[in-house]
Amino acid sequence: MYKLIAFDAYGTLFDVYSVGQLAEELFPCHGQALALMWRDRQIEYTRLVTMSDPNPNGSKYYLPFWDITIRALRYVCKRMDLELKPEFEKRLMDQYARLAGFEDSLKVLKSIKERGIATAILSNGSREMLSTVVQSNGLTPYLDKVVTIEDVRLFKTAPQAYELLLKGFAVQKNEILFVSSNAWDALAAKWFGFDVFWINRQGHPYEEIGERPNYEGNSLSKVLEIL
Ligand code: LAC
Repeated sequence: MYKLIAFDAYGTLFDVYSVGQLAEELFPCHGQALALMWRDRQIEYTRLVTMSDPNPNGSKYYLPFWDITIRALRYVCKRMDLELKPEFEKRLMDQYARLAGFEDSLKVLKSIKERGIATAILSNGSREMLSTVVQSNGLTPYLDKVVTIEDVRLFKTAPQAYELLLKGFAVQKNEILFVSSNAWDALAAKWFGFDVFWINRQGHPYEEIGERPNYEGNSLSKVLEIL
């Protein structure tokens, strides 16, 4: 039924909170809070950039996700009154560049490919950081394309970001299943017109606006059950 399964990257295939352990080592008792606030501020900045100039030719405020991620880290450390030494920033960003994949990421992509279905990433991440994290997790052979919003300089949830999948693959909208662990991303992809699988690892409630996702499961492996 689906010809393309497209995955969000950060939080979906790669564990963004895995940096919490290093953050805890660098800032004892603050690691978890830092990781959570860091992620929130990072996404907040992508929205600010996109909404403040939603020009179809790209936002004039665009900054690559890598830079946004650094700025968010600096903000959060200031906000939490933690001294972000240059070497700490480097270590945290090095870790971010090589985030660990979830334990089933590789198996799931491989299994989808074996069924003759195309696979992709659609991410806010900049090309270089995506390429590094995909390679360091050994996922390259199992992805047909890594699609980055860098090409439109508008972050998700701009429709132009989701549209990149239609430009990159010769498939119809209803032949795409979009998989994300970020409820806001799942919701916006559904609004765009994709079928959506929401990965809900933590048993969180879904958003209170928008339509429900077509599917929900507590791990990536659950995607295989509906194919
Ligand atoms: C991404 C982030 C938003 O990979 O999770 O697009």
